[in-house]
Amino acid sequence: MGKDVIIACDFSSAEDTLTFLDRFRDRKPFVKIGMELFYAEGPQIVRALKARGHQIFLDLKLHDIPNTVRKAMAVLSRLDVDMCNLHAAGTKAMMEAAVEGLTRPDGTRPLLIAVTQLTSTSQARMQEELLIGETLENTVMHYARNARSAGLDGVVCSPLESAAVHSACGAEFLTVTPGVRFSSASAGDQVRITTPEQARVLGSDYIVVGRPITAADDPQAAYARCISEFVD
Ligand code: C5P
Repeated sequence: MGKDVIIACDFSSAEDTLTFLDRFRDRKPFVKIGMELFYAEGPQIVRALKARGHQIFLDLKLHDIPNTVRKAMAVLSRLDVDMCNLHAAGTKAMMEAAVEGLTRPDGTRPLLIAVTQLTSTSQARMQEELLIGETLENTVMHYARNARSAGLDGVVCSPLESAAVHSACGAEFLTVTPGVRFSSASAGDQVRITTPEQARVLGSDYIVVGRPITAADDPQAAYARCISEFVD
């Protein structure tokens, strides 16, 4: 798979999602379905978007005992998503169980990506509340190596961490990066941000873009700008 732009469809109904996606006529965007939309509409929204020809990143961030995650991943793989994810903090045993569960009888499976530390977690809170004494960066790199050795395909991280993840885990280990803004736009609640062009230069494999596209006056033009800066 090459570089691509994934639109975060953070809507709370199928109707809003389908109305939004109806605008994109030239190129079917790769879309991310997160907890909000999945909890509102269930597996049917995945099937509906798949039937319309979209590639799908199902962002449900699983974190439970290995047996539960194995069985949940087996169900997700039957939904035929293209990418899904879990928390690396669930341990290597949980990640290995996830790979097992996700692998279909024919040996294929969706891409599986690990969340290392959420970008909303500061180093101070990680150290004080989670009692992790390492730096945030060391923790992210350690979790990325764990994910790689458990057989996962990549991690969610900031574009600013893409190069370090690639040098620790290999060029083929995917970096899926939110926190993207056009240079002129406001950051919202994102802190460590880059433009689509900077994310490309830094080596991100996929950018996940929500509000800069979904809240734009012209979402199609904003998406086209992401594609031209990041992919073309
Ligand atoms: O609207 P915005 O571009 O900030 O959306 C980014 C998307 O990426 C959201 O769906 C958010 O939940 C997700 N995300 C993130 N940071 C992470 C993991 C996921 O922003 N560490």
